[in-house]
Formats: sequence, structure tokens, C-alpha cells
Amino acid sequence: MSSPSELLSEVQRLLHFGIAEIELPAYVVTWSDELFRIYGWEPGSVTPSRETLLQRVHPADVDRVDRELARATRIPTTQPIEFRIVLPGGQLRTLEVRSRLVCDAAGAPVRMIGTTHDITDHKETAARLVFADRMASVGTLAGGVAHEINNPLAFISAHLELIAPELGASPVEIAAMLSETRAGVDRIKNIVRGLQAFSSTDEDQRSPLDVQRVLELALVMTDNQIRHRARLVRAFAPMPDVVANPATLAQVFLNLLVNAAEAIPEEETQGHTITVSTRSDDAGWAIIEIRDTGRGIARDIQNQIFDPFFTTKPVGKGTGLGLSMCHGIVRSLGGEVGFTTSPGAGTVFRVALPPAIAAVRANERPPAPPPAIAKDVPKRLLIVEDEVVFANALRRLLQRDKHAITIVHEGKEALARAEAGERFDVIVCDLMMPAMSGMELHAKLSVVAPDQAARVIFLTGGAFSPMAKQFLDRMPNAWFEKPCDLDQLRAAIRRVSTS
Ligand SMILES: Nc1ncnc2c1ncn2[C@@H]1O[C@H](COP(=O)(O)OP(=O)(O)OP(=O)(O)O)[C@@H](O)[C@H]1O
Ligand SMILES: [Mg+2]
Repeated sequence: MSSPSELLSEVQRLLHFGIAEIELPAYVVTWSDELFRIYGWEPGSVTPSRETLLQRVHPADVDRVDRELARATRIPTTQPIEFRIVLPGGQLRTLEVRSRLVCDAAGAPVRMIGTTHDITDHKETAARLVFADRMASVGTLAGGVAHEINNPLAFISAHLELIAPELGASPVEIAAMLSETRAGVDRIKNIVRGLQAFSSTDEDQRSPLDVQRVLELALVMTDNQIRHRARLVRAFAPMPDVVANPATLAQVFLNLLVNAAEAIPEEETQGHTITVSTRSDDAGWAIIEIRDTGRGIARDIQNQIFDPFFTTKPVGKGTGLGLSMCHGIVRSLGGEVGFTTSPGAGTVFRVALPPAIAAVRANERPPAPPPAIAKDVPKRLLIVEDEVVFANALRRLLQRDKHAITIVHEGKEALARAEAGERFDVIVCDLMMPAMSGMELHAKLSVVAPDQAARVIFLTGGAFSPMAKQFLDRMPNAWFEKPCDLDQLRAAIRRVSTS
């Protein structure tokens, strides 16, 4: 049977838990074996003291730890002290010290007992959870907002298409305003697409994608941080598509851009630039570089910046997870991330990603073959759409092709017409509608009128549920995201109506 002191020593070792005792006021320090090990020393190989301990404390924390430890030997406290230490190999650990002050009858301190616990792993797990949670809620919010914007955007965009020819030979200024308005709408469309991409946090959903679009999204999201510190320069050369989840890849650029902005001291923002460049290298990989003219990275920390929790920011300001996350994500895509820096002059982070081979972008179907017959043969068209303004805009547009158009605002009315024997050449149907969704309507039509089910073209406002996404991927019918390209929609209508 072990003696109580042997047992205590074993327990400390098992829990990675150290104990210090300080006799006061003489300040005679004793450490348990495990406390030596926590600080990276062989038990007994150094004389335990406040100075010995402070040697290992992270430079940014030394003053605070010294102050708080001194205080704990004078005034009883229940507040733990948390700080970082740097081990001889450069490894960073986080410790938590709790202490108890023993006083004599007159209230004078005679002894302090302190426990030291290495909480690095615990903190890592907790921070990862917070980080994951933050990304998930940003994603949900982004998806919801995108969906709300898409519906009004769809009719604004359709109305613009309609107004243009009506104006005919209008004054030059009106034509210019119109074209600027269209350019504005296109920009909103791009931002919304980006938000949608960002909301797909399901890591398994990887597809070949246009990295530039993901970069643009990250730039929109970091605009506020960058604008105040530096001029943004884009130097985009063509590069291949890569296979990734857009939301995850956006996080890589987001972190690198924020770091670049933060590297520029707030007090001297004059003349600074952040340059984002893209190109393809000799091996055909996509190369993305983010260059800043900030403070650079000091030589002695260059091999630590990718470590989880390594940060030069004050306690509580940075998680130090940004770069370790970038590294993890890029590696999981089969790519590499590295940097070159010159302290005082700036840093370049370079992300290299392997190309997607035989890339067929999701959602983008091959262009439609030319229609077999003349396009202005009138067709019977049914529009099933709960958004009234959009349905009307669509009608005005499609009427130009001289179709006979019926609008219903509910899935069940469309179904009733099919059940009553009414037949359409094409059914343009919104995917997400209250009561009966486009998916349900399609399923019911497949039973009561299979010929009609095959004639459905779906429109979606985005923000797919996983079920909707699966549905669209599985069925052969064409589908478009709102606001859709009207020429493509017309081509699809011609294709379906002549099949
Ligand atoms: N472009 C850069 N220029 C200079 N130093 C950089 C740059 N990027 C990263 N660093 C250094 O690397 C450290 C780690 O970066 P990382 O993104 O992992 O964490 P952080 O930025 O400190 O914290 P967080 O990302 O949570 O805000 C930074 O604290 C900084 O010292
Ligand atoms: Mg960072």
C-alpha cells in the first residue's frame, strides 16, 4: 500500500496537477514534482522561486502574473489566475493557479498553498466549440437574409428587363441611369449568391467552384475592417476551379484578410495597401495571395503562428485560432498555405489549391441546345408562385413570347386543375411555398398526371433545406435560382414545351 504522500504524488501526475507551498513572510518556496514537470523542468533540477516561475511565463503575461501572485500572498482571494507559459521547445500552454492563504490568529499570512492546473486542452475544446457555433449562426443568418432579399430582387430585376424596351429611344441620361441600375442589381445578386454560399456550412457539400467568387464574398464581409486601414488592390488573373465547400473556403480568406488588416497599425494607415491576387501556377494549381504592407512577423514567432491559440493580441482579444483553422482547412482540401514576411515592411500569405479536374459547376447545367421549332408558337403556361408581384412580372415578361399564361398562387390550385384534366405545356413553379411546396406538388402530379410532372420548371429563392437540395439534385427537371437569367429561363421553357 502506498503512503499518503506517494499516493498524492501519483494523483498529481495523473491529473497533471501541481502544488506549491510558500512559507511566509520568509517566502520559502516548495514545489511538488508535478509542478516542476508542468513548467518543463526535471523535479529538483532548479530552485523553485518566483523568479524561476516567471522565466517560463509568456512575455505578454509576466507583469500581470507577478502582480497577481504577489497580491495572493498578501490578501486572501478565491480568484484563479490564468496565464500562458512558453516551454523550452517553444510550446505554448495555459495554466490556471488557485491559491489559499493561511493566516495566524492575528490575521498575518503564514503560508500560501497554490494548485496549478494545465488547462490548455480544456480551453482548446471550449474555444473550438464557440468558434464552430459562431460560424454556424453566421451561416444560418446569411442564408435567411439571402432568401428574403432574393424575392424582391427577382421582380426588380424582371421589371428592369421589361422597362428597357418600353423606353425605346429615351434620352441618353435615362438610358445611363437604367444601365447603372442594372449594374447595381447585378452587384446585389452577387453578394446574395455569396451569402448563400456562405450559409452552406455542411462540410460534406463540396463541389467545384470559382474561387474568385468566394474571394469576393470574403472581401465584402471584411470591407469594413480593410477600408479604414488600407487601400484594397485586386489583381485577379485566371485560375482553375477548385473542389471545396464555399463556406469553409470563405473562412480561410476571411481570416487571412482580417489578419492583414490587423497587421496595419491603426495609428498610421497612410499609404498602406492590401493586395489580393490570383493566378494559376505552372502545375495548374490555383494560387491566391494576400499581401499587406503591415508590421510583418518577427523572426522568433514565425514558426508558431500556425499553432492553435498562438496570438500576439492581448488576453481576451484574439483566439489565436485563425491561422490554425486556415491551415487545417487548406490541408483538408489537399492544398498548402505558407507565408513570406519582412518585419516592418509586410507579409504575403499564399494559398495553393489543387485544380478541380473536369469541373462541372453545381447548379450550372450545360447550355441548352437551340430550340427545334420556332419560338413564337403560343404555348399554355402555368405559373405557380405565392409571391404575387413576382408572378405578375413573370407574366409580363413571358407574354412577350405570346404564351397563354395562367397564374395560381397555391400548389393545391395547380393540383386541382391537373386533376380536373387541364393540361399545360410548361409549369413554372416556385419551390418553397406555404401550405403545399413545389416538391409536394411535383410528387402529387407524378401520381395523378405524370405528363404534367415532367413539364415542371422550378424556381427557388435559395436557402435550400437539405431535403430541397437533394430533391433538386435527384430529379431531371430544370431549376433556376431567383433572380434568374431570363434568357436561360425562356430557353428552358421552349425546351420543355417542345419536348
Ligand atoms: N498578416 C500578418 N501580419 C503580421 N502578423 C500576422 C499576420 N497574420 C498573422 N499574424 C500573427 O499571427 C498570429 C496568429 O494569427 P491568428 O489569425 O491565428 O490569430 P489572431 O489573429 O491573433 O487571433 P484571431 O484570429 O482570433 O483574431 C497573430 O496574433 C499575429 O501575431
Ligand atoms: Mg486572426
